[in-house]
Amino acid sequence: MSAQPNPIGAKSVLALVVLTIVLMLVGFIWLPSVQSDFSARGVWDAICRAAGVPTNWSGDDKTRTGRIATNVVLDRSMARVGSADSVGRGATLALNNCTMCHGARGMTASNAPNLAGQYPEVIIKQLNDYNAGKRGSAIMETLARKLSERDIADVAAYYASLPKARTAPTTYDESLPALVRVGDPLRNIAPCIACHGGVDQKFGAPWLEGMPRDYLTAELRAFRNGSRANDAEAQMRNMARAMTDQEIEEVAVFYARKAAPEGH
Ligand code: HEC
Ligand code: HEC
Repeated sequence: MSAQPNPIGAKSVLALVVLTIVLMLVGFIWLPSVQSDFSARGVWDAICRAAGVPTNWSGDDKTRTGRIATNVVLDRSMARVGSADSVGRGATLALNNCTMCHGARGMTASNAPNLAGQYPEVIIKQLNDYNAGKRGSAIMETLARKLSERDIADVAAYYASLPKARTAPTTYDESLPALVRVGDPLRNIAPCIACHGGVDQKFGAPWLEGMPRDYLTAELRAFRNGSRANDAEAQMRNMARAMTDQEIEEVAVFYARKAAPEGH
């Protein structure tokens, strides 16, 4: 008796399955599709939207905030050595607009970053980010908006032509702070010298040697709390988030250490 199939039971199970499928189609696909902001991007997308998954989870260069970090696509041509003409024009522009904060030859005792010897692609990227409001600074956003594309290329060529504060640290110098030399793999912090010079120079990573200590701590804290968010793929933000105040202080003191006097 119990082995006999129960026709009424089987029918009600079938009816329940059909009803469930119909309700899912209505709830997950038909209802969202008639909402005014529906964009037909496939059934999976419709299901995700209905389930409340934010659309920017699938973002490409977007960060978790849904905001694109930077509009600048770094290109090797930005690293070209500027012509004498470009350097000369950049020098005049810099003298009239930049030296009061960044120093006569791109080195300053104030807390503004040094620009002497900075890679041209870094200067071009940062000025474009200020211009687009991707990196915030009341002073620099206003100034960058006054510069044409050619002005930016010329000041970058000028500053790149000036001598750097000093050379990169030697790779295996045991006195380097651990984060600078080896990073901390357990916290996904890559060694600073793998990108900022020493072992390797990642295209677009700024030259940090001799930068003012307060500038360095301010930038690292800004990456950590997300108020600076113009680093593509959140590269610096992800590392800074794992750093303590003490570690930020330590790497800043290290990179800011005084340059050897001229000729040494
Ligand atoms: C009134 C002072 C002032 C003037 C004038 C000024 N800057 Fe700046 N600049 C700053 C400060 C302060 C910062 C750091 C701002 C921040 O925290 O983002 C900065 C940042 C920069 C950066 C980013 C550097 C880096 O390492 O990321 C660049 C590039 C730059 N300035 C270029 C220029 C150029 C080119 C001019 C002239 C057209 C200029 N600045 C004029 C104060 C100034
Ligand atoms: C994987 C490569 C990489 C590593 C490792 C790395 N950085 Fe960076 N860092 C970058 C890039 C790229 C930028 C430029 C971001 C942008 O486009 O604004 C940057 C920017 C910075 C800046 C801002 C400088 C300026 O003038 O704008 C500071 C400060 C900095 N990094 C410090 C560090 C320190 C300290 C470490 C080691 C704990 C470190 N970075 C490790 C790639 C790296």
